[in-house]
Amino acid sequence: PGDGLALTPPMGFNNWNSTHCRAEFDAAMVKGVADLIVDKGLKDAGYEYVNLDDCWALPRRDADGRLVPDPARFPDGIGALADYVHAKGLKLGIYTSAGTKTCNDAGFPGALGHEYGDARQFADWGVDYLKYDNCHNEGVDAVRRYTTMRDALAATGRPIVYSICEWGENEPWKWAEDVGHLWRTTGDISDDWGSMLSILKQNLPLDRHAGPGHWNDPDMLEVGNGGMTGTEYRTHFSMWAVMAAPLLIGTDLRTATPETFEILGNREVVAVDQDPLGRQGRVVSSEGGRWVVAKEMRDGSRAVALFNESDAPQRITTDAGAVGLPKAGGYTVRDLWQHRTTHTAGGLSATVPAHGTVLLRVAAGSGWAQYPPAVALGLEGS
Ligand code: DGJ
Repeated sequence: PGDGLALTPPMGFNNWNSTHCRAEFDAAMVKGVADLIVDKGLKDAGYEYVNLDDCWALPRRDADGRLVPDPARFPDGIGALADYVHAKGLKLGIYTSAGTKTCNDAGFPGALGHEYGDARQFADWGVDYLKYDNCHNEGVDAVRRYTTMRDALAATGRPIVYSICEWGENEPWKWAEDVGHLWRTTGDISDDWGSMLSILKQNLPLDRHAGPGHWNDPDMLEVGNGGMTGTEYRTHFSMWAVMAAPLLIGTDLRTATPETFEILGNREVVAVDQDPLGRQGRVVSSEGGRWVVAKEMRDGSRAVALFNESDAPQRITTDAGAVGLPKAGGYTVRDLWQHRTTHTAGGLSATVPAHGTVLLRVAAGSGWAQYPPAVALGLEGS
């Protein structure tokens, strides 16, 4: 909304996809994940927000109408947790619903009618990000509900990234550019190929609505949760990056495998997501489940995803002109998963495994002096 926040898609962690409301969602988990974001280099790779989802509060407000953190989960409260996260150079996010209650059956309080008080309370705790859900909305107009909270957050004077979670029901890409920094475009993701694919296909056509400060949100990452193969998780991460989607880790990093850290920590892929031009990739072609999606980058190069939706390996072919590059004598091609650089006269093709993605970054010219930048390769300072 033009306030200078979320100029690139938000990156961080949210507990929902790994814990839902189970008891393991508590301060120990959140702190443990924050520790690992720093210790495993993910903070240096760009992950910043540590976000709490539903079920952090008690079912009743206190006598003063304030929200009360569940003492079984957060015995020291939210302010202390924010202090912990801030001391690590990270930021804290919280959740509530633009309704009378959140989505959980326990009936945790929502912020409808309490927007200014709840926003004040979040700001007082040191919260930096709000995910605002859509349950129990009493049929009140969505634009009105989400705009009221925008104004309440602004009134606190604290910079707070504002995530509109109304599941795409009221086509937020048409009205939310000046309301929130990101808006969900679909229902909830689950940790399986069919769900991820369906969300991907719903989010791809919305490319023209995304830009710095206002992003399409195809929901949080399932990478590492066990329901997809490594190939499928690399596709999930590649396609979220090429769509300039928020990158919110949705797995418990305390039990994550080296492969999960390798996917989430791939700085060349993160650099595609975080490119400051802020373009969402556009579909170039998709015949036979052979998807070509191209994202314009600020340096004039293109990130090009060759994604094979089908259940058998396929050769996927495109060329420099089709992905929007200018005519040139030759092109430099960087494979962002293989970390290898090659050259081409213009043709771009790869044999892509079933459900796999080959993610390239392609620039006109053979020198490509600017790329890959040392930072993208983790070679900073070496
Ligand atoms: C619905 C949202 O879409 C999910 O991401 C999650 O926040 C749940 N509600 C929590 O109840």
